[in-house]
Amino acid sequence: MAQSSSFSVSTPIFYVNDAPHIGHAYTEVAADVLARWHRQAGDETFFLTGTDEHGQKILRTATANGVHPKEWADRLVESSWRPLLDTINISNDDFIRTTDDRHKVGVETFLQRLHDDGHVYAGEFEALYCVGCEEFKPKSEIVDGEGAFEGQKVCAIHSKPLELLQEKNYFFKMSAFQDRLLALYEERPDFVQPASARNEVIAFVQQGLEDLSISRTSFDWGIPIPWDSAHVTYVWFDALLNYITARGYGQNPTDPTAELKHWPAVQIVGKDILRFHAVIWPAMLMAAGLEVPSNVFAHGWLLVGGEKMSKSKLTGIAPNEITDTFGADAFRYYFMRAVSFGHDGSFSWEDLAARYQAELANGFGNLASRLLAMNVKYFDGVVPAAGAEEPADAVIRELAAKAAADADAHIEAFAIHEALASIWELVDALNGYITEQQPWVLAKDETQRERLGTVLYTVSEGLRVLAELLHPVIPESTGKLWAALGAEESLGALAAQSIREAGTWGRLPAGATQHPLPVLFPRIETEGDGK
Ligand code: ME8
Ligand code: MG
Repeated sequence: MAQSSSFSVSTPIFYVNDAPHIGHAYTEVAADVLARWHRQAGDETFFLTGTDEHGQKILRTATANGVHPKEWADRLVESSWRPLLDTINISNDDFIRTTDDRHKVGVETFLQRLHDDGHVYAGEFEALYCVGCEEFKPKSEIVDGEGAFEGQKVCAIHSKPLELLQEKNYFFKMSAFQDRLLALYEERPDFVQPASARNEVIAFVQQGLEDLSISRTSFDWGIPIPWDSAHVTYVWFDALLNYITARGYGQNPTDPTAELKHWPAVQIVGKDILRFHAVIWPAMLMAAGLEVPSNVFAHGWLLVGGEKMSKSKLTGIAPNEITDTFGADAFRYYFMRAVSFGHDGSFSWEDLAARYQAELANGFGNLASRLLAMNVKYFDGVVPAAGAEEPADAVIRELAAKAAADADAHIEAFAIHEALASIWELVDALNGYITEQQPWVLAKDETQRERLGTVLYTVSEGLRVLAELLHPVIPESTGKLWAALGAEESLGALAAQSIREAGTWGRLPAGATQHPLPVLFPRIETEGDGK
């Protein structure tokens, strides 16, 4: 069993050019499940998220809407990005905006250090830029335009024309870190995950790294370069630094790392921004003499109609379109269960509705309501004592221990979907156990009274294990179940239960008074229109 230790995690910080869709929510939920799991394991946990507010993309959107970019960012953060965290029940410890003063100070300190140490030089540059990506595109991602963009070069991701930029910029000598990066991927095979992402990154770096342009002079929406205020910092260089500025880097000007805490961290990102996190970011940290992230995990894309769901292609689905009908727990469960973490996954309303009904309502919710109803009927709502253990009971007890241990190992390996699959074996086994043990038959025979108690105790205790293991994924419904099981009074708050002890059998005491349980996953009336 893993020892308690520390766990620090970050999501990307998202562009505030538009409101969030379920792709952003997906990343948030994954990071949140990991953070909640580790917190419940007693690990010292820190979970950071936030927003990326500088650069041309935001500037242009704000200008098109007739407002200053800061005003635009404030509006989007308050109306959309912070509320998203409530919509899907995110337990972040901090929220950083790149327009925060603490961030600006940290970025200036970092840049000045790199400059003083000779990692930065002035140079001329001309290349094709994608404002959607906020990136000078490598040849492999430049394609010929179609339709309205026939005859132009477009970005392979955004399908929009690239812009030729010609500027005098400051450059970061990233090429100098090529060998150290390759050595890092070699020495720490789990640094970039999954393996497909690692291979892609290694192949990219082996082709040869160029220096990175880190400043702009053609617009001024950004953090000024400390030694040359005619330039603002390149938005990605600025954005990546959020991971340490929010953790205290640069807050003490004479000793930039004096206040740095919870670093290194796990970086959960979408595969679209893998290279920034697995190549540029560690090179920046190496240049500054700081530790690289503990891991960079690139998850796949949510696909709609076979394509990456995105705002720029107008396929975005707002998270509350799902939570308004199905609830936050179902949102969280569905994406963590149905998509293999690290692979692409297709979203469909049919699949969501089907899993909601089969797994959450019939599989888990029904199990809980049946047990509580039987306990009221046969034992006046008090947890009965277990008598002699029979082989079928031992199977459940052993499976509970196995599910808990397997789930913890899967979470350790970022295999969230596998963790849920392991836990669900216990859900299915408990349903099968009730069917086979037939407590309603035992209840008719006074000589089977002890056996009836054992069976209902086994199911109550199995549900106690499930509540603890599922709490990081479906916090609301497990909270209700916890209270109904009578565990709140006898064992204390659910979030305070050590998740690595969840599989230890027999913790729910006999004699605990149970309480009525509201329907956890009510039937959803489908409109027959696919929603
Ligand atoms: O790239 N499926 O911000 P962004 C899964 N500001 N995840 C998706 C997704 C989809 N279809 N669409 C978006 C940026 N995401 C930069 C990051 S970090 C220093 C700066 C998620 O608003 C996924 O996490 O374009 C992806 O990497 C991220 O949103 C991109 O968000
Ligand atoms: Mg994007």
